[in-house]
Amino acid sequence: MTISFILNGEDEIINADPSQRLIDILRNEFHLCGAKSGCLAGRCGVCSVMFNGAVSPSCIIPAFRIKASEIITIEGFSKNDEYKDIILGFKEANVENCGYCDAGKILTAESLLSQNKLPSRNEITAALGGIKCRCTEVSSLCDGVIAAAVIRRRRLNVRNN
Ligand code: FES
Ligand code: FES
Repeated sequence: MTISFILNGEDEIINADPSQRLIDILRNEFHLCGAKSGCLAGRCGVCSVMFNGAVSPSCIIPAFRIKASEIITIEGFSKNDEYKDIILGFKEANVENCGYCDAGKILTAESLLSQNKLPSRNEITAALGGIKCRCTEVSSLCDGVIAAAVIRRRRLNVRNN
């Protein structure tokens, strides 16, 4: 089937089998490999993308659902100031970024911070606890998201003054 959608701000049209997984389309058709292949069952989060504004596992999104959607991958998000806030916060808290779970933890952190400017540790754990990260403890992840929140507030305050 022919499918048109928006990917990282660009209009795209592809021909795909309706059941093809979004993760495979991103990696094979667009060479966007930031979303990693893990459980392929919607549980580990390492294949996350923003799908119509919500963080979603791209391994369980079939091609037919992409039609007329808007998708932002970690590559697209990495061009924004919001990405830099999170990366700086993670750095400050010594959160690892080995590349395997980055799409999941960074996009989920953004989803949380966009709705909650200063989340509690419990809220961060609830939001990010499901992301399968082999390198970072949840407590460091909480420190990183809190640091990112502070960095973002500072940046926005500076911009508004
Ligand atoms: S690979 Fe998609 S959720 Fe695990
Ligand atoms: S930073 Fe390595 S798996 Fe999460």
